[in-house]
This record gives sequence, C-alpha cells and structure tokens, in this order.
Amino acid sequence: MNREMIAIRNLSKYYGFGANRIDALKNINLDVKIGEIYGIIGRSGAGKSTLLRCVNRLETPSEGTVFVNKLNLTMMSDPDLRLARKQIGMIFQHFNLLESRTVFENISLPLELIDLPKAEIKSRVNKLLHLTELKRHQKHYPNQLSGGQKQRVAIARALATSPKVLLCDEATSALDPRSTQAILDLLKSINTELNISIMLITHEMDVIKEICHSVAVLHEGEIIEQGPVLDIFTDPQTQVAKEFIKTSTRMDIPKSLRKILKPKFEENDTRLIRISYRGRATSQPIIGYLISHFKLTINIIQANIETIQEETVGVLVVEVSGTEHDFQQGLIFLNNNQLHIEIIGYVHRAATGFA
Ligand SMILES: Nc1ncnc2c1ncn2[C@@H]1O[C@H](COP(=O)(O)OP(=O)(O)OP(=O)(O)O)[C@@H](O)[C@H]1O
Ligand SMILES: [Mg+2]
Repeated sequence: MNREMIAIRNLSKYYGFGANRIDALKNINLDVKIGEIYGIIGRSGAGKSTLLRCVNRLETPSEGTVFVNKLNLTMMSDPDLRLARKQIGMIFQHFNLLESRTVFENISLPLELIDLPKAEIKSRVNKLLHLTELKRHQKHYPNQLSGGQKQRVAIARALATSPKVLLCDEATSALDPRSTQAILDLLKSINTELNISIMLITHEMDVIKEICHSVAVLHEGEIIEQGPVLDIFTDPQTQVAKEFIKTSTRMDIPKSLRKILKPKFEENDTRLIRISYRGRATSQPIIGYLISHFKLTINIIQANIETIQEETVGVLVVEVSGTEHDFQQGLIFLNNNQLHIEIIGYVHRAATGFA
C-alpha cells in the first residue's frame, strides 16, 4: 500500500537561456503513494502546471527523473511514452473538450485512438457515462452543458483508458461552489472505488482540505513545505502556507487590530496568540483552565472548528493579558497538551478597550 505511484526525483525545469532563463521548477522531490490524493498548492506562477505537465511528459524536464508506476517517463521513446500515458489521465480548468463532438464521442476519443473494437468502446463509454451521471446527456454537445457537466465529461474521457493516475490542473477553479463540491465528491469516489491515485493542483486551501491526504506548498518553483494535510493545516511552517490556511479558515486578524499590532512585548501589553488543536482537545476546557490556573484573562477574537479527514481541527485567536510569568506558565501548559501556539504579536492594552 505504501509503494509510490508517482516518484519525482531532483526535477528541474528551465525555460529560455542565459539572462532570459526562467527557473520554473527547482529540484523537486515528491512521492505520491498508491491510492493517495496529493495536492500541490501555490500562487499564480509558482510552477504548478509545469510540474503536473512534467509528470505526463507534456513538458520534458530539464533535469531529474519522473517515475509513474515504476516506469521512467523521462527516458522514454515516443512509442513507449504513448503506451505509458494510457496509465495517466488528465483534466484541466477549462475542460478542453472537442466542441464538434457529442458527450459520448468526447469520451470515446481516447479509445478510438488506440483502435479498440467498436463494441468494446460502447461498453466502456456506457460505464463511464453511468459513473459520471451523464447518461441522459450523451448526445449533447459541450455548448449545451454547464461547467460542472463539462468537467464530468472531461473526467470520463480521462478515465477511458483505465489509468492508474489522474492529474487535475485547477479542475474546479472555473466552477461555482456547488459544482465544485460535486466534482470533488466525484474525484473522491474515483479515488476510493477505482483506487486511482490523484495529483491535483490548486490555489485554494479549501480544495486541499476537502479531499487531499498530503500536500506540498510550491513557491517560486520550489517545494517549501510538504506533508500530511492535517499537519500542515494545524502547524504550518512557512508564511505562504500560513496565508493559504488563513484564507481557508477565514481567520485573518481584523484590520483594526492588525493596524495596532506590535512585534515586541512591552509592559502592560496584551498578547495575541493563535492556538490550534486537533482530535479530542476542545477549546472550552483549555480556555477555562488557563483562566482558573494561571490568572490570565482571555478574550476570544476568532474561533473556527471544522472536520478535516474525519478529525476535528480547531483554530482560536485569543488575546491574553496577565503577568509575563503567568503567561509563560500558560504556554507550557498549552504545549504539554499538544496544542500548537503561534504568537501573532502584541497590543497596548489601552488600545483594545480590553483590560
Ligand atoms: N512555455 C513556457 N515558456 C516560458 N515560460 C514559461 C512557459 N510555461 C511556463 N512558464 C513560466 O514558468 C513559471 C511557472 O508557470 P506555471 O504555468 O507552471 O505556473 P502556475 O503555478 O501553474 O500558475 P497559475 O496558477 O497562474 O496557473 C512562470 O513564471 C511562467 O511564466
Ligand atoms: Mg497553472
């Protein structure tokens, strides 16, 4: 179960030469295990699409190696590559369907290209129409479909050659929230029921949170953080990861407070801290304990509790006042209880109207 389906080793990709050279990817190392959904998150221009395109050799890496199901795609001749690509399906933000072909004909295209007998094509396409709930649209043309339906056609087409891996490039970015949810649910069931490994790229932490097991944060061509989604979510190490999480939990500090935030503690300041926890730890006993045992006064600024991969994850932003000694004791207590603490900054007590 732990064997990797995709193994990327020391992958770099450059465009252009000399002074005009763009280093789109720098020494990427990443494993997608069999049955895993692996998310890549990053800002625009980070190199996400380039990375995905190197996996199925739509782009040729400048350096390094990509293995898919143990096959070294980097070294392959064109005929071998065509064969290997049968194992890799791909979907895109803008669906890339053929407008002149019906839903049925779009899905059957990859099977026609490998000269499958007509009867076999029909039976495979029918199964895919059923899986993606498109049976009644099979004779429709793409311009008669909604975005969500178009993406389902693209997914069915990507699955036609029975791939082991599905690559998704911003597959939900052009969709409304409801269609996004439906596509994510479909990807999840493809992963669990067909045991297809998925590598997806997105700039939305919500997508990562919803379906990924692992995540890598890509920034200016480099992976700056990677690991299980729950770990990154509760204890992000880099500023970029922290920002993505903030937008997803809608836990950005109010502007009024941000304006008066100071990086250094002075006497009579209150401290603004972010507490994250997961699993059975819940917020109420923690706050209660801090107040009763450490003579600290706590004001909850923001709270967000949700379920990620069937585990409870909570994030609290609180303002803490009390002596420095009591505060340090409180921090030790929080740390000993497997809570992640981040000190956001300090605010002069009089400034908040909170004493
Ligand atoms: N064919 C190309 N020729 C030259 N530069 C390219 C080419 N493709 C990508 N780049 C550059 O490589 C970098 C990474 O681009 P890429 O498309 O992979 O980013 P991305 O993370 O997918 O961005 P977005 O979220 O906007 O889709 C960018 O600086 C881009 O301009
Ligand atoms: Mg892109």
